[in-house]
Amino acid sequence: MSRCFVTRELPGTALDRLSKGHNVDVWPNRLPPTAQEIAHHVKDAEGILTLLTDRIDASLIESAQHLRAISNYAVGVDNIDVAAATARGIPVGHTPDVLTDATADLTFALLMAVARKLPEAIADVHDGEWVTWEPGRWLGAEVHGATLGIIGMGRIGRAVANRATGFGMNVIHVGRDQLLDELLQASDFVSLHCPLTPATHHLIDAAALEQMRPTAILINTARGPIIDQVALRRALVDGTIAGAALDVTDPEPLPRDDPLLSAPNLIVTPHIGSATRAARERMADLAVDNLLAALAGHPMPHQAN
Ligand code: DGY
Repeated sequence: MSRCFVTRELPGTALDRLSKGHNVDVWPNRLPPTAQEIAHHVKDAEGILTLLTDRIDASLIESAQHLRAISNYAVGVDNIDVAAATARGIPVGHTPDVLTDATADLTFALLMAVARKLPEAIADVHDGEWVTWEPGRWLGAEVHGATLGIIGMGRIGRAVANRATGFGMNVIHVGRDQLLDELLQASDFVSLHCPLTPATHHLIDAAALEQMRPTAILINTARGPIIDQVALRRALVDGTIAGAALDVTDPEPLPRDDPLLSAPNLIVTPHIGSATRAARERMADLAVDNLLAALAGHPMPHQAN
């Protein structure tokens, strides 16, 4: 029986499986533990199950003398110093596949919502602005026949491409034959699905936004720091691009008084790409499977290092 620290309650019954064989300490609060609180709880732990809100850096990994397994409740592992874990021989688990369709669905919901101005239209109904059927009001962009540029053609990028094809869109992606600048110039919609790494930090900066069409819409359901938000706000205010939808921001949560929130034609949702009950329960199952395997001395089913 190993000691495990789980940094939040999880949906479903996966944690019951973990508790059957191990001594499990679950952080009970709605807000995440601080770095000091995590350090305190992992001091004697052999396993830790973390969320993307928990920063697991080299000093924490070094201080957790007994740690044998880190299992992240996310497909992205940018909150963890994976190199430091690897150097100590600690496997880092993650949860790919099970949230692909949920995230692709939300990407498409955001794309459609910005394209067809749903937030404004809904707000106008509530504000008494729906006074008649108006030929020139609430006019959005056509999705059918438009070009969608995908940056990051992994599992989620491909699932978004499948949906786009069903909507009659022309899909392009950055790859061997398509440079980033060419994609930005050619796309009516640009959707980000790459991991956050030093190479993708602020990949969409002022220069990249300048390459986009004034009618283009940017969607980010990957990681906030891939976009330079100061540059994005300026691009929306100046009309360099037509709109944006962000499910991820830098930081998260985005403070209510962040200047970005006053930009026009912008939708921000609170990092809900994987937020279907089924996807979140499957993520919990995978995260627990990863932890159980490593604590038993087996390879994790989904290991990121
Ligand atoms: C992930 O898994 O990386 C998502 O951002 C949250 O589900």
